[in-house]
Amino acid sequence: MLKKIEAALAAVQYPQSPEGLYEPIAYTLSSGGKRLRPTLLLLAYGLYRDDVDRALPAALAIETYHNHTLLHDDLMDHADVRRGRPTVHRKWDANTAILSGDEMLILAFRHLLKQDVEGDAARLQQLLSLYADTMQEICEGQQYDMNFEHADNVSVEQYIEMIRLKTSVLLACALKAGALIAGAPEEDADLLYRFGERVGLAFQLQDDYLDCYGDPAVFGKAIGGDIRCGKKTFMLISALQRANDEQRSALLSRDPAQVIPLYNALGIPQLCREKIEEMYAQAREAFDRIALPAERKQALWDYAESLLKRNK
Ligand code: IPE
Ligand code: IPE
Ligand code: MG
Ligand code: MG
Ligand code: MG
Repeated sequence: MLKKIEAALAAVQYPQSPEGLYEPIAYTLSSGGKRLRPTLLLLAYGLYRDDVDRALPAALAIETYHNHTLLHDDLMDHADVRRGRPTVHRKWDANTAILSGDEMLILAFRHLLKQDVEGDAARLQQLLSLYADTMQEICEGQQYDMNFEHADNVSVEQYIEMIRLKTSVLLACALKAGALIAGAPEEDADLLYRFGERVGLAFQLQDDYLDCYGDPAVFGKAIGGDIRCGKKTFMLISALQRANDEQRSALLSRDPAQVIPLYNALGIPQLCREKIEEMYAQAREAFDRIALPAERKQALWDYAESLLKRNK
């Protein structure tokens, strides 16, 4: 799957000029990354049909869109490194991250325009609505994420809803899109959405965990960025709930050197692992209800499960 996606991405031709607009796009899309969302999309399509190349336009659309969000996200999060390389706003500047980022959103739609679906025009409409709804929800999630930087009473429920919006819905969209393009039954498409949503929650919990505990050389991002921004992660919220007054002010210091030792002392890494497991149990429930033979579904489960052990 990965080879297929890389080859399709590499085959995309961008205009030569203006260079300042297109070079950062080529830089971003050729910098690797897990290609998680297009992989999920093609795996979901492959549950129903064998000609997976047919779903490549929608797969390219979702990866291009994801990379668009990263350009803007890195600007908003003051992040200097991604995938082990300088972020676009550091290598170029903030205006470049905004405009090349915008252009990538348009390029994502251009890929989507090339997608055909199994079935009637209503199904295509459903696919387009799915992408549009998802993109809008991600903006909402990103806004909550920023709002929460300035709030100190964020609950675990509010955090979960925020990460559902900013991250989960895109994994869910990938899976449902694959099913819709393949002409899968509506109930399966919805179960795949639910499955992706639960895996997505685990995925963002893990991203937040790696932001503290990852190896920067492998994770490809700077460690402690969330703490410096005052992000209200599950770890910070849970630590604040367990802390005494003195610990509480240290936790709110936005200094990783103070915060991470407190996470360790308060048992937060373990709590975070348990929360991730809880999300996977919910993902499994939805997965088991997808009405397909176990052998046909196994590759998708194996892939989702491999994300649990990821360190990048
Ligand atoms: C980063 O996504 C943004 C999050 C939702 C955590 P990925 O971890 O999938 O980033 P790449 O594409 O593999 O670099
Ligand atoms: C990612 O959240 C959400 C989106 C990009 C929409 P993060 O801000 O945690 O992602 P990273 O850690 O920078 O990749
Ligand atoms: Mg970020
Ligand atoms: Mg962010
Ligand atoms: Mg992160």
